[in-house]
Amino acid sequence: MQTGVIIVAAGSGERLGYGIPKAQVPLAGEPILAYALRGVIASGIADAICVAVPRHDEALRQVCAEVSQAAAADGGECPPILAVDGGASRADSVREALVTLQGVDAILVHDAARALTPPEVFQRVTTALAQGGQAVIPVREMTDTVKVVEHSDNAAIAPEVVHETPDRTRMRVVQTPQGFAREALTRAHAAAELFDDQQAAAVTDDAMLVESMSVPVYAVPGSDLSLKITTETDLVLAEALLQKYGS
Ligand code: C5P
Repeated sequence: MQTGVIIVAAGSGERLGYGIPKAQVPLAGEPILAYALRGVIASGIADAICVAVPRHDEALRQVCAEVSQAAAADGGECPPILAVDGGASRADSVREALVTLQGVDAILVHDAARALTPPEVFQRVTTALAQGGQAVIPVREMTDTVKVVEHSDNAAIAPEVVHETPDRTRMRVVQTPQGFAREALTRAHAAAELFDDQQAAAVTDDAMLVESMSVPVYAVPGSDLSLKITTETDLVLAEALLQKYGS
């Protein structure tokens, strides 16, 4: 099975507030994207990597080149790393990268923001695809209780009121990399290209596009290290995790 990995790194990262793309923000002195790339390379599952970077960005292209050179200098196997301009939405960025990965059977889509995802997670997802899964996602069990809320009928008390409490034991938190048979992912993204703005805004991961085509999406264990760096607090947590567990 030939496997391509898409790393989406074209987000602006406004919530981190550094004024540079999130994938470029330093984590213990190195850009977030460098960690994400090294995790993919260390897993050994990728035959090709395509990184979606912000349009006209040069700094993240440089990170790709440096990680590739460092891996080659270490004498390890390093798949070709291609950088492409991302799009306005995450799904657009995935589509831009997809067209460059024609010759593979399976594709894993990974958020650069999950910089510390351990290599084993990439391997678990790839193994499940090799076993015949067309769609595979890494998940964690819920530790918090979750409520569904609606607008409150008394804003003086609070803006929201609880509607119901779903059964926590059946709920999962979803991470990346999400893996797909290339044909299923390509078909799902072609359909999503026709979405109106409201539908497009509701797309928060690739698996939901494939689910809507009635393709079964299998779930394998993710990792607590695979946190998505979104806020300053996440960055502090990621640095603490790096200090304790290394990259
Ligand atoms: O914004 P958020 O953290 O949800 O983005 C998830 C991932 O998608 C990030 O790695 C980000 O760089 C990427 N992204 C992208 N293109 C966009 C928006 C987000 O590649 N237009």
